[in-house]
Amino acid sequence: MRFSDEFLKELMDRNDIEEVVSEYVNLGRTSGSNRFGLCPFHSEKTPSFSVNRDKQIFYCFGCHKGGDVINFIMSIENLSFPEAVEFLAKRVNMEMPADSGDKEDGRRKRMAALNRAAALYFYKCLCRDPSGPAAGYMEKRKIRPETAVHFGLGYAPDSWDGLRNAMREKGFHDSEMYAAGLVRKGKNGSYYDTFRGRLMFPVIDVRGTVIGFSGRVLGDGEPKYMNSPETLLYNKRKNLYALNFARQSKKGYILLCEGNVDVVSLHQAGFDSAVATLGTALTPEQARLLSRYTSEIVLAYDNDGAGIRASQRAIGILEQLQVQVRVLQLQGAKDPDEYIQKFGAASFENRIHASEDQMDYQLQRLLDRCDLRQDDQKIAFVRQAASLVASQPGAVEREVYAMRVASLTGIKQEIIMKAVEQTRRRKENGLRRQKEKETHPARAIQPRNRDLQYTDPRSAAAEEGLIRLLSLDAALEKEAEFPAPEEFSSPVLQHIYTILLEEARDSDQTGSGVRSALLSPDEMEILAGILQKPGSLQNARQAVADYTRVIREQKKIREGTDDLRALAQEMKDKKGYQP
Ligand code: UTP
Ligand code: MN
Repeated sequence: MRFSDEFLKELMDRNDIEEVVSEYVNLGRTSGSNRFGLCPFHSEKTPSFSVNRDKQIFYCFGCHKGGDVINFIMSIENLSFPEAVEFLAKRVNMEMPADSGDKEDGRRKRMAALNRAAALYFYKCLCRDPSGPAAGYMEKRKIRPETAVHFGLGYAPDSWDGLRNAMREKGFHDSEMYAAGLVRKGKNGSYYDTFRGRLMFPVIDVRGTVIGFSGRVLGDGEPKYMNSPETLLYNKRKNLYALNFARQSKKGYILLCEGNVDVVSLHQAGFDSAVATLGTALTPEQARLLSRYTSEIVLAYDNDGAGIRASQRAIGILEQLQVQVRVLQLQGAKDPDEYIQKFGAASFENRIHASEDQMDYQLQRLLDRCDLRQDDQKIAFVRQAASLVASQPGAVEREVYAMRVASLTGIKQEIIMKAVEQTRRRKENGLRRQKEKETHPARAIQPRNRDLQYTDPRSAAAEEGLIRLLSLDAALEKEAEFPAPEEFSSPVLQHIYTILLEEARDSDQTGSGVRSALLSPDEMEILAGILQKPGSLQNARQAVADYTRVIREQKKIREGTDDLRALAQEMKDKKGYQP
């Protein structure tokens, strides 16, 4: 079922975008009807995220994310459209219409049921064969049976159709299994199980839904892990393995590691706040998700070059949020799992207490690379340390760490502080210039999603112009002659334009509240971008005529080159050569 227009309009009226966004973002500087803050969707140090009170949209000039209040909640809370509507309805105590939820919602529920059934099947396969290969592998990795039960671990038998047959018996179709990534399609069009001969880790989100799977080979072999593809439910950038358990931990900190096996092993040893990323580097979305449950994160990445680099990237991302970050040093083991097996849980606990805050950690790593007895290296150390200290947002922190650097090097603290402030100014100037570049219209014209990029930028700019005019004043539709949507070059702009035209013809009021019900999040993002560019209604009718002319000119040129191409093909076919 679709939500009615009246319901959505009331929902939008009662959830003012500025108020809703303020619950997540500190909105500061005002410029016209825009307010700016730090973008919650990408990491940045100067605000390029804007909320427009009049247009009831948000838009980030840095990462180009944008849309209305429903789109905002979809992105920040990781919800589908109907879920975001429900979220906002709850926020203002609005009753949901009786039969809410649409087709996609139904498909999500169905996929969740399938995933749950598949997890149960894998689990039964593991239990059925206590002397089988998976049970044997678990024993070797010292994963106890009760731990396997806790995590719902399972075994995907080494068969092409074990899961598929079991799920068909339960009434699931091949197409559903395919959409969930549980089966793949062979060359001859037949389906076969994706996961074969693997130890299965179900990935469960914070609401308890089985959203996907990771499967590890039993022993050596490539690829070591197979993971669910992106589906309606599974987004590896927005979820974390075992967060469903970790969020309930009483530890007060979350242990962030790299591997599923590390997480399982840590929980088994009593560290029930361990989570892992799902085979990617930590993303800003995951960092935000974590910051919702804890204010302290302990990094327990692998003790190798890749792990150290990953730690440093994670620190950079977590630094933007108000979380304290500490870094574990696991001497004598390659990862947390091996550490626990070798030295025990008590020793790991000691490591956590001894873990350094990230600044000390980074200073120490710098120090390891410099010999302070050499003047040139000492100078290099001070430069780099000043840059690290400069990245601290708090003035008190900067003083404290400057003092630390001073005592390490024997250089006066005031001199260190001078270097720090100089670096800060340099960084700020650099960022401002970068932002000016980013927000320069010529550079910002292409949509972020590559699939939607404009093939004919000149026509697209004119198409955007018409969209902007039409949303500034829908009444223009009656006063000026607008081209037909089919004349547009960009399919996505064509769709947006069609919706706006219909809106204008239906009523004479602008700013209908239901655009996000008719346009995809990608389309809303593009529309928000267009609306955020300055526009004026002066000489609007002339402007419509000019834009239309450009669109038609470009269409001719495109068709011309198409004709040429067709001609070339024809000659090639006929004569076997290209003119
Ligand atoms: P690791 O190779 O460290 O795996 O990769 P692990 O889970 O710690 O396993 P052990 O201890 O070596 O047995 C860390 C994570 O990276 C992802 C998985 O999420 C894994 O848990 N990964 C790794 C993949 O997605 N694909 C791969 O082929 C390898
Ligand atoms: Mn590992």
